[in-house]
Amino acid sequence: MCTKRCGHGVPCATSRLAAGDAGDVPQYPIYPEGLKSPYRERRFAAGEQLYAALGITREDRGARRNRFSRNWEFFGAPVGLFCYVDRDMGSAQWADLGMYLQTIMLLLRAEGLASCAQEAWSVYHETVDETVQPSDGLMLFCGMAIGYERTGVVGADVLIDRAPLSETVRFLV
Ligand SMILES: Cc1cc2nc3c(=O)[nH]c(=O)nc-3n(C[C@H](O)[C@H](O)[C@H](O)COP(=O)(O)O)c2cc1C
Repeated sequence: MCTKRCGHGVPCATSRLAAGDAGDVPQYPIYPEGLKSPYRERRFAAGEQLYAALGITREDRGARRNRFSRNWEFFGAPVGLFCYVDRDMGSAQWADLGMYLQTIMLLLRAEGLASCAQEAWSVYHETVDETVQPSDGLMLFCGMAIGYERTGVVGADVLIDRAPLSETVRFLV
């Protein structure tokens, strides 16, 4: 799949990253500008929990960057999926898209496979497009790494905490 023929086997965002290329002009904001509370704190806590599980300290920016850059290698997974959405669709259809992806992920789970949705791919959307050659009017939403879950490696069994039901759901009885 690598259009640069450098042997990475995936759209070669890794070479762009290595060259210090911060990415293409975003086609959509991954987070709203000035993410508000409590989402900002939850996002921060999720990152801290993940890096702590990997044994990477907050100060070790290099290790954090290296870990993040694994996104563009599908974290070593053997299969990658790219999900595109029609540019003319609005937020309601983006919700449909999330359901569609969730269904794929659950079906993968039923087959004993694991997956990781990756909006990081949207950072290098032009490179992904070079490989995928999408139809007119489509834009990249995310990638997804697919493979068998690895056990027994550092961080493999970490499950990021979810906000408790009491914070996110109100039951009307
Ligand atoms: C739409 C979407 C995009 C995501 N993008 C990324 C990403 O680019 N990189 C990443 O490491 N995790 C990303 N995540 C988070 C992971 O896919 C995963 O949900 C998170 O690490 C929680 O994992 P856990 O369920 O094993 O706790 C994304 C999640 C979603 C739903």
